[in-house]
Amino acid sequence: MVQTRQQAREATPDSRPAVPSEKTTPPRQRKKSNAEILEEEDHVSFGVLDLLRIIGGVAVFTCMLSYFIMGDSYVWGQDKIFRKYWNGVKRTFTKPIYLDEATLALYNGTDLALPIYLSINRTIYDVSEGRNKYGPGGGYSFFAGRDASRAYITGDFKNDLTWDVSGIDEERVQKALGHWVNFFASHDTYTFVGYLVRDPTKAQTEAPEPEPEPEHKPDEL
Ligand code: HEM
Repeated sequence: MVQTRQQAREATPDSRPAVPSEKTTPPRQRKKSNAEILEEEDHVSFGVLDLLRIIGGVAVFTCMLSYFIMGDSYVWGQDKIFRKYWNGVKRTFTKPIYLDEATLALYNGTDLALPIYLSINRTIYDVSEGRNKYGPGGGYSFFAGRDASRAYITGDFKNDLTWDVSGIDEERVQKALGHWVNFFASHDTYTFVGYLVRDPTKAQTEAPEPEPEPEHKPDEL
């Protein structure tokens, strides 16, 4: 039965036009031929997301294989290197704090309310996790709350508890101090805090970069 415009309008309760105009009528979908469907399937696009999925999958698989074979490492025994770079990334996003020697001294483990800090090559680390070594009574408590870079090189834990490494052969400094710089920078549980400076107010407000010399780079060790 052919419906008149009037009948169509009455049968439609809302305000939409009862008889849709040509503009609003969705074009009737033409059924695709099998050849067209196959051709479309041949042209599946390969996007960035797919690439990321593959890389992610390969990475997960490799880590699992490493753990299966090595037993205790997801990165084929290269944990230290990965940790160092991971700590580097974390460090980039950590806002450093700047302490002078007097303030750093407060963090020597005697005040249980404060973390334990030590500084090496003027870079401060939180070593609270090593309280048994750096806290009062610990075998290395003399390193806490100060920068004793010189003692890390000479092993003189009485006379060389100072940051001043002048007079020591540069190669020895690089090798010995570099070893410990690397040790703290890539440690599992010790974390980067900031820098030891002469005047913390200046370091924070004026100098974007820390006042002390940059740390010894790992490749210099
Ligand atoms: C230049 C000389 C030395 C320096 C700078 C030095 C420094 C250190 C530091 C910083 C630690 C703590 C590591 C941590 O936080 O886990 C440590 C641990 C240790 N050091 Fe030395 N050390 C020196 C020489 C020696 C020597 C000659 C011995 C042996 C007679 C020794 C035996 C130990 C032991 C057994 C530990 C482990 C302590 C523990 O885990 O409780 N160190 N050393």
